[in-house]
Amino acid sequence: MTNPISGFSKLSKQEKIDWVAEQYTHNPTVTKRLLQKYWNIDDELQKLHDEFIENTISNYYLPLGIAPNFLINGKLYAIPMAIEESSVVAAASKAAKFWLDRGGFKAEVLGTEKIGQVHFMYSGDPDHLETFFLQVKPKLIEAAKSLTANMEKRGGGITQIELRNKTSELKDYYQLHCTFETLDAMGANFINSCLEQFAETFEEEAMASPLFNEEGKKIEIVMSILSNYVPNCLIRAEVSCPVSDLRPNASIDPEEFAKKMIRAINIADVEPHRAVTHNKGIMNGIDAVVLATGNDFRAVEAGVHAYAAKDGTYKSLTHATIAHGIFKFWIELPLALGTIGGLTNLHPLVGMALEILHKPSAKELMQIVAVAGLAQNFAAVSSLVTTGIQEGHMKMHLLNILNQLGATDLEKKKIVEYFKDHTVTQSAVVQVFNTLRDNP
Ligand code: MEV
Repeated sequence: MTNPISGFSKLSKQEKIDWVAEQYTHNPTVTKRLLQKYWNIDDELQKLHDEFIENTISNYYLPLGIAPNFLINGKLYAIPMAIEESSVVAAASKAAKFWLDRGGFKAEVLGTEKIGQVHFMYSGDPDHLETFFLQVKPKLIEAAKSLTANMEKRGGGITQIELRNKTSELKDYYQLHCTFETLDAMGANFINSCLEQFAETFEEEAMASPLFNEEGKKIEIVMSILSNYVPNCLIRAEVSCPVSDLRPNASIDPEEFAKKMIRAINIADVEPHRAVTHNKGIMNGIDAVVLATGNDFRAVEAGVHAYAAKDGTYKSLTHATIAHGIFKFWIELPLALGTIGGLTNLHPLVGMALEILHKPSAKELMQIVAVAGLAQNFAAVSSLVTTGIQEGHMKMHLLNILNQLGATDLEKKKIVEYFKDHTVTQSAVVQVFNTLRDNP
């Protein structure tokens, strides 16, 4: 029987741990030891992590891997990836190597526009609102000057504020639809601060305006927040090669393979069940780099999936064609990323990941992340249309199974050697493990 608690956040870290271990786990001593095992021995580093969020009781590790050999716009990258799923880093590395020998990846930023909105209600004459908006727009920009000064110095800032009438979708609903250029920052705090200032000024000015006083109607602000749907913060990455060079291994006929790749992508374009899994594979690559570079993968996920559904059905984010003997494979997706501010300045591993990536600008990071997604999709779909993914996946998963069985290093070595030319299945691994244990 557990009890509710008040003032949990005021407890010390140790008191929080004691409480949760005693209230919610069957062996508090084991729980406390486990939580402690994951603390960093460097007190300062631990304190830094404790302070990222609230009510911290330990750290949650993910492996950080490196996928080397990515040639992007003629520059060579080793891409850091934080992910728990086996095969993802291996698949990315394999695709990178394959395309390295075929000219590498080309990537182009198509836009960097960020979006925020002030949502409000108004039941009066839309023409009055339009007149008022045109009068007040310069005042909104002026009122946000102290917030935008630094960004403007660097060449960014507010790019547009529009009044949008949404009353055909929801009674009395309007918005200030605002766009921003935030340069190398993801810009969430900048945008949200500007929006809250717009809302305050907009409301104050409306209250003082004779237009609304005469008609007796008010503007009621509902909320001010950035949008994670940024269809004009867009990146395109592609690879191409003669069809005759499209041979991932000697037993594959390149023409046949190219056709199968195109068919698989066509299926993901018309069949949402497949498209979701197809895009999930892309996000394996994208999220891993987004996370390793301290960016907000939830924001990226939400925006990317909205983009995949922009035509009314959920579709593939990648596309492929064969024309004049050339196979072309590309991805187009929105990515709002930053390489300054937020966690990028705080988390030492994020700083290191950015250093490994040659300290990219936000635009360069968009290119790298999109390429990681494209590479991941190429690797996944290549396997799916040839051998299937289980063969490679189970080989990578072998160590996880052996760790679950408690295999020693020597046992692992012998069993990995054995499975170099045997099919990995859970039951086959258990059987080989048991036989080796019984006859070491
Ligand atoms: C698994 O994490 C990702 C795949 O399912 C992607 C795909 O099916 O394209 C292999």
